[in-house]
Parts: sequence; C-alpha cells; structure tokens
Amino acid sequence: MSTPDRFFISTPIYYVNDVPHIGHAYTTIAADVLARWNRLNGREVFFLTGTDEHGAKIDQAAAAHNRDPQSYCDEVAGQFQAAWKSLNISNDAFIRTTSPAHLRCVQAFLRVLWDKGLIFKASYSGKYCVQCERFYTDDELVNGLCPDHHTPPEVQQEDNYFFRLSAFKDQLIAAIEDPDHPQHFEIYPRERRNEMLGKLRGDINDVSISRATLTWGIPLPWDRSQTTYVWVDALLNYLTAVGYPDDKARVDAWWPADLHLMAKDILWFHAIIWPALLMAAGLPLPKKIFAHGFFTLGGQKMSKSLGNVVRPAELIGEYGVDGTRYLLLSAFPFGADGDFSPENLKVGFNAALANDLGNLVARSLNMIEKYCEGKIPAGDKRELLDQVLKDLEPMETQMDHLQFHLALTTILAGVDRVNRYIETKAPWKLVKTSLPETAEVLREVALSLKAIMFYLRPFMPDTARSIYEQLGHSDDFYTHGKEFFLNPQAVDLPLGQAIHKGPVLFPRK
Ligand code: MSP
Repeated sequence: MSTPDRFFISTPIYYVNDVPHIGHAYTTIAADVLARWNRLNGREVFFLTGTDEHGAKIDQAAAAHNRDPQSYCDEVAGQFQAAWKSLNISNDAFIRTTSPAHLRCVQAFLRVLWDKGLIFKASYSGKYCVQCERFYTDDELVNGLCPDHHTPPEVQQEDNYFFRLSAFKDQLIAAIEDPDHPQHFEIYPRERRNEMLGKLRGDINDVSISRATLTWGIPLPWDRSQTTYVWVDALLNYLTAVGYPDDKARVDAWWPADLHLMAKDILWFHAIIWPALLMAAGLPLPKKIFAHGFFTLGGQKMSKSLGNVVRPAELIGEYGVDGTRYLLLSAFPFGADGDFSPENLKVGFNAALANDLGNLVARSLNMIEKYCEGKIPAGDKRELLDQVLKDLEPMETQMDHLQFHLALTTILAGVDRVNRYIETKAPWKLVKTSLPETAEVLREVALSLKAIMFYLRPFMPDTARSIYEQLGHSDDFYTHGKEFFLNPQAVDLPLGQAIHKGPVLFPRK
C-alpha cells in the first residue's frame, strides 16, 4: 500500500509510431513538475514514463520504414529517452513494453483473470481504427469514419478472447461516485468524471483483449496463437514498473499509483478499463486519474498529415529548456483545451521571462556587485521577504489542484513585487545618500530572490539552480527541501557571501 510519504506518478507510455512531439512533452513536463514538487515536499517519488511498442499500428509503422519491429522500437524508444533528457525530465524509470519483465507481468496478470473465469472466447466482428487501436460502434463513428482520425475503420472478424468488463459496471460506478467506497478513486476534471459516469451508465460491452492475426504482441499464456490486445498490454506497464508479479514487497510498497496523467483522448482506457482489470485481479485501484486537455497549434490539430508537428528540440532551440517548460505549462489551464501560436509564445517569453524574471535577477546582482562589492550585504529587515512569501503561498493549493498556469502566475506575482520594490526604493539614487540603507534594500531583494528560486525549482530547475549559484551558494541546491516549505523563515543568506553573476537567463526575442 503506498503511503502519504510516497508518490507514484505516471505519464501515458507513448506509441513509437512517431517520434516525440510537444504533445507528448506537455504531459511529461507536467508530470515532471509534480514529481519535483513532491520530492521538494519530502516525499519519496516514483515517476514513470515509457513507450508503448506493440500492436498493429507499430507493426505497420515499422513495415513502412522497412524495419523489423524490434529494432524500429529500439530506435524510437531511444529518441523518447533523449527527448526527455533534453527537457530535464526527472523520471525514475522508463518502461518499454517489449521488455522481458513486461511480458512476464502481462502473462501473469492475464492468467489470474483467466483462472477466475473472467475471460471468455467469442467470435466477433467489429470496426477497428488502427491509429486509435480500438473498436468503434456505429454510434461512435461519424459518417462511418473514425471520430478522431476521419479515416474509415477496418472491419475485423476474428475469434477473440474477451474480458467481462460489463460485470464490473456497478462496482465501477460505486467506486467513482462514493467517496467511502473501499475502492474509491477520483477522476479529474469534474466534467470528465461525469462524462465517464454517463458512458458507464449506458450499455457497456465486454472488451476484446486479444488478436488472432497479429503477431507483434505478447502471446496469451493459455493460447499462444493469440496476442494480447495492445491497450491491455500497455495499461499493465504501470504494474510491471513496480515489480509485478515477481517483487511482491515492491508492489506492496508502491501500488496503487497516486496519479495517472494523460490527455482526455485516452481517459476511457484509464478511468474505466484499467480499474475494471484491477478489480478483476483483486488489486487496489489508482487513487487519482487526471485528464488534461488537447492543444492545437494556431487553431489546427497537430498531425503528421498536416505537417505541423512541433518537436521539443525546435522549442528548446528557440526558448531554451526552461523557457519551453514555462511556455507549455503557462499557456492555458491544465485540464482545458487550448491553443499555442508562435506569436503568443514569443510575447509570453519576453514578458514573463526576459523582462520580469530575467531582468530581476540581472539587475539585482548588478546592483549588489556595484554597490556592495559583490557580497551579500547586511540588514535585518524581512518585510519584503515576508510579503513575497505571502504572495507565493497560494502555490501550495494550486499545485495540489494541478493548476500549473496559476502557480506560475503566483510566482510571477512574487517577481513583480520585488521589481516594484526596486523601482520604489531606487537603489541607484539611494546609494548617493545612504550606503547602509542601500545595502539593506539589496539584502531584502536577494533574500526574496532566494525564496522565489525555491518555488521555481519544479518548473524551471536550471533557472532555479542558476539563481541559487548566482547568489553565491556552492552546495547542492537540492539539499534544501521540506524544511524550507515547513519553515519559510529559514530563508537566509550568509553575510558577505560572494555572489557569482551569471549570463543573462532569458535573452529577449
Ligand atoms: N500508447 C497510448 C497510451 C498508453 S498508456 C497505458 C497512447 N499513446 S500516444 O503516443 O498517442 O500518446 C497520447 C498522449 O500524448 C495523450 O494522452 C497526451 O498525454 C499526449 N498528447 C499527444 N498530443 C497531444 C496534444 N496535442 N495535446 C495534449 N496532449 C497530447 O495514447
């Protein structure tokens, strides 16, 4: 059983039919921010991401590249790992569904359901969208086309194995609705939860969990002529990652997950099918499932066919790693749909990062260098610091609610307060009449910068580290965590510590 001292967060595992784009990066950065935030608050964190490598879609993508599927998967999985490294993602594990450990997990799990009689064989004919890797009913299709890809589904007729999803309908509704239900789990945002409940109350079909004709998958343990349906294979990654079925102690320590993050496109699989599979196996359910919105680029869906797919490296090249992390999470509320336009990105970067934050750091250090011989000056006042800490307080609740754009606004309110303080005190004038007063003002500014630095850490780790080092610290800035959040009064800077002015953090575009 996971505990309040532990936090297990996951992203979806991404399909390797395409190399990483900023849609994948969006979820992964959000998960990274939460992972870092929880570590700062003293929790032991397990942050999981990875790649989804089986199924018809991957098989076809490999064939289209004239590659055998495994070597193709190896290459694209490597590209995902490299992309996350380049974005400073602090994942603790990277799971690949073609790993031997995952095969053992899937087979062991399905064996449990098979032995319990929750899987049956039936002949089935349905309309399948390979891009979605799912069947659609006629009602769900739009003019006979996949609602998402606008392509005609394939008619597939096979003898498959089915999971008795329908048997769990009432239990699922109760677990979602009743906070006192022993298997209660939460779905956010609320509209999406209601959407899931609405669907559940309708007709629920059992789901096919195997494919008879596809070889690129994990064979069913009791009938090796069939492979596991890619979505069942993929969802089980969350259990493989904590050591199911071999490492019982680890499963007990880390399962259930605290939070599965994803976009709304795959909420049904996570909020309904996954909990039902776990119920069937007698395992605890994830505590929270959060589906964020889908974003468009200049009003258009990002897609290979439209040729407007943006790679993380393009944004990093333009705005840097922390600039990219900031821009993606500040653009619109997490949970809502939104749009990115190149023009808005530039405006946001210049206003918040170049002008407000970057400028604050540069001018503060310049003045300490010029008026205080490059050393942290003396002073007893903590008024500005106290106000800034008050400004920053709402961030705690905002982070609990995954309101990243608000949390960033909160940090910028602190930045703004310090900038205004500098304007009012005008140290460049004050220095002509009183050096001690100037020193006092600049000490307050430096302390406030340090407080802001702490709160920036989950979002912009390199920037935070740079501010920390520019203030003259040389020890590992990760040594300060929970004690700071529990006791903000601990913010301090040694008198006379030599500052190390660094390069401009965010050069103006
Ligand atoms: N392989 C499945 C997930 C299995 S999880 C057990 C899959 N992969 S995916 O590569 O298609 O990734 C979908 C996810 O990528 C979305 O749920 C979302 O997290 C992210 N996004 C992809 N494009 C996006 C946008 N345009 N906007 C927001 N999120 C985006 O589905």
